[in-house]
Amino acid sequence: MNPECNVTDQQRFHSRADMDRAGNRCNNPYIRKREQKLAANILSKLPPAGKTVLEIGCGEGTNLLYLNALNDSLSYTGIDFSKEKIDAFQGFPENIRGIVADAMKLPFADEEFDFVFLRDVLHHIDWARPQVMNEAWRVLKRGKTLLVFEANPFSPLNVIFWNLYPVERGMKNSSRKEMFELLYKYGPCSIEYLEPGYLVRAVSFIFWKSGSENIFARYLLLPVSNIIEKLMCLMPKSFWPCRLYTIKKD
Ligand SMILES: C[S@@+](CC[C@H](N)C(=O)[O-])C[C@H]1O[C@@H](n2cnc3c(N)ncnc32)[C@H](O)[C@@H]1O
Repeated sequence: MNPECNVTDQQRFHSRADMDRAGNRCNNPYIRKREQKLAANILSKLPPAGKTVLEIGCGEGTNLLYLNALNDSLSYTGIDFSKEKIDAFQGFPENIRGIVADAMKLPFADEEFDFVFLRDVLHHIDWARPQVMNEAWRVLKRGKTLLVFEANPFSPLNVIFWNLYPVERGMKNSSRKEMFELLYKYGPCSIEYLEPGYLVRAVSFIFWKSGSENIFARYLLLPVSNIIEKLMCLMPKSFWPCRLYTIKKD
């Protein structure tokens, strides 16, 4: 339970579509490269013959766009409780649908999807993690895979985030131990450490936002970001900011 930021604060914060962030995700050359790599990682875990993919808390749908760019033969569904975010799906390819729904009560039958994932959602529904996980598990078919991306509360960058932004404070309950306690109830769970260079993402986000036409953004952003990212890989993994938990439903 995170008394510092309740359901109303979260709903208010997330109700609007953030097209700046979505545009940056899709167009910023450094972030685009990171997202393509992440999408390839996600799809590498798609079970054989898997066809239907669900993202819970999909925001403006950028994750699904990246997945679709790599494999457009799948059927993608994103749900989010923000209507404005789901409205941002307009113009997406036909095999990507967005539905306004609450992660705590998914409008799907049991075992409807081959692949379900949540990215950076659990710490925003901190008070209801078990309900959200039960729903994710319910709609996943047997023999298929659930992915949960969750922030590492002890990474220096994330410590700054959750101190600055009350909506991020649920992260404090996302330590590896707490995540394993939650997820092992469903099945054996593996962990991957991701995005050592997340700081570079944040910096490159600001530069790109301030003008994609400036010389730095155009010519230097990608090479400079790559160098800094390589250096940040030297950091111990316990400080890397993002983690991916994978659970298979037997
Ligand atoms: C940090 S954003 C992540 C968005 C997306 N997964 C991504 O990686 O870009 C968290 C998302 O969870 C959504 N969300 C929070 N609580 C929710 C709930 N109870 N039901 C559905 N979506 C929810 C928010 O609207 C927001 O879009």
